[in-house]
Amino acid sequence: MALKNINPTQTSAWSKLQEHFLQAKDFQLNKLFQLNKNREKDFSISLEELYFDYSKNHITNETINLLTSLAKEVDLKNAIEKYFSGEKINVTENRAVLHTALRDNSDTPIYIEGKNIKPSIKTSLKKIKSLTNKVLSGKWKGYTGKTITDVVNVGIGGSDLGPSMAVEALKFYKKKLNTHFISNIDGDHVYETLKKINPETTIFIIVSKSFTTHETITNANTIRDWFLKYATVFDLAKHFIAVSSNIELAINFGIDKKNILPMWNWVGGRFSLWSAVGLSISLSIGFNNFKEMLDGAEIMDNHFRDTDFEKNIPVLLGLLSIWYLNFFSCESEAIFSYTQYLSKLPKFLQQGFMESNGKGVDRNGQTITYQTGCVIWGGVGANMQHSFMQLLHQGTKMIPSDFIGFKEPLHGNKNHHEILMANFHAQTQALAFGKTVQEAHLELKTHGKISDLSSLLPYKIFKGNKQSNTFLLDKLTPKNLGMLISMYEHKVFVQGIIWNIYSFDQFGVELGKELALKNLEKSPAN
Ligand code: F6P
Repeated sequence: MALKNINPTQTSAWSKLQEHFLQAKDFQLNKLFQLNKNREKDFSISLEELYFDYSKNHITNETINLLTSLAKEVDLKNAIEKYFSGEKINVTENRAVLHTALRDNSDTPIYIEGKNIKPSIKTSLKKIKSLTNKVLSGKWKGYTGKTITDVVNVGIGGSDLGPSMAVEALKFYKKKLNTHFISNIDGDHVYETLKKINPETTIFIIVSKSFTTHETITNANTIRDWFLKYATVFDLAKHFIAVSSNIELAINFGIDKKNILPMWNWVGGRFSLWSAVGLSISLSIGFNNFKEMLDGAEIMDNHFRDTDFEKNIPVLLGLLSIWYLNFFSCESEAIFSYTQYLSKLPKFLQQGFMESNGKGVDRNGQTITYQTGCVIWGGVGANMQHSFMQLLHQGTKMIPSDFIGFKEPLHGNKNHHEILMANFHAQTQALAFGKTVQEAHLELKTHGKISDLSSLLPYKIFKGNKQSNTFLLDKLTPKNLGMLISMYEHKVFVQGIIWNIYSFDQFGVELGKELALKNLEKSPAN
């Protein structure tokens, strides 16, 4: 049975939330903290090494009760079960949505059209493992007998963003290969990468679920032509691997059948790094670390599937997002990681959220009259504090933000880490509590600015009352990264269910592709 079709704005919880909003819009975070000394304890959740503090939000217990009632009224629980059990909830593409099955270690079978998909997932994992071990051990040789030093992932969108984010995030765990990513159709991007590699010691992974994506196939052809300047067609098998659900096109391209790893139509591109699309991650950090990332995601999956909404991290994240986007009319959400390793996280999440939930038609085929989707952006701390944070602290926009930090650094530099984390906590405190007129006044006086006091004062005040979520983890490990990514994937799901949209298609990207092809037919030289 398909997902239910419930217009969220016609639920009784929505009306109650609208009423509640009339008071909530004036909530002051500093007052909420004064009134409840246990606020952080009351509005925080721990799951393994992840601590989630959502106390700095414009919420009370009543808000959470109303938001979780909304989730219950649209039957989110039932939708979650359909999601995990493989029902075809991607109705517009007539597909199941089962990236969760890729990290499911249980023995419970999952059937698609009567066939248990678990064995094929196991086989694919085995293939990723054996290929990774062969390359890392040096058994896999290039066409001149040399061991492999470089890997180039050729793909775009979900076939690029997840792997490139995870390889960067986990480069502390890197074994020995240098990993490169070619995504853009910009030929300069391709040649800049080719400049850095040696054809004798490089493996190219052509990642394309469809194997028809114009950018990827054009890049793959250019790379093959470049490779064939040095080697022969008989050497392709030692250097080209494909990850695709279109085996026939991958073979036609010249890839040896034994070098083709599967992709399935029940895994969306933007959720595919857990499959063989993540081969470059496994090659970079080793299979055991790759598997740990999957295991971390499974911990979050089980938490999401089994925990009551009131203490369910992805459910609360999705609901808080609805609260801000639909009631406070916020337009964007920011994600700030206090580690350089997560510099690519916002880009990766942009596809996850914006390709999934940028929809204007509901599950009844009706044009939507309420806000859906949201602009996702972000950066790394402390760099972003020296650029755009001014707008969040004193600007006129309301931008809910997530702050992700780690208790321990990976290289053990305590001095740097103390400064980094002092900034991490300072930002959420400054956003929430600001600086009062009295504080600003006193500060100006102390600094001897008495003569300019009245003219400067308005500019020195921080109104505060800006909401943020804090995520504090022990350290950045493959397992913790897996938990974080899975958490955001489920947040996307929760939003989509409540907004009554289909989150797993992406027809909106098609028109531009069609027109580009037409333009090419008209003037191929340009
Ligand atoms: O154009 C959008 C898109 O279809 C994404 O959804 C997908 O991740 C990307 O292109 C790449 O698709 P493929 O893996 O089929 O090359």
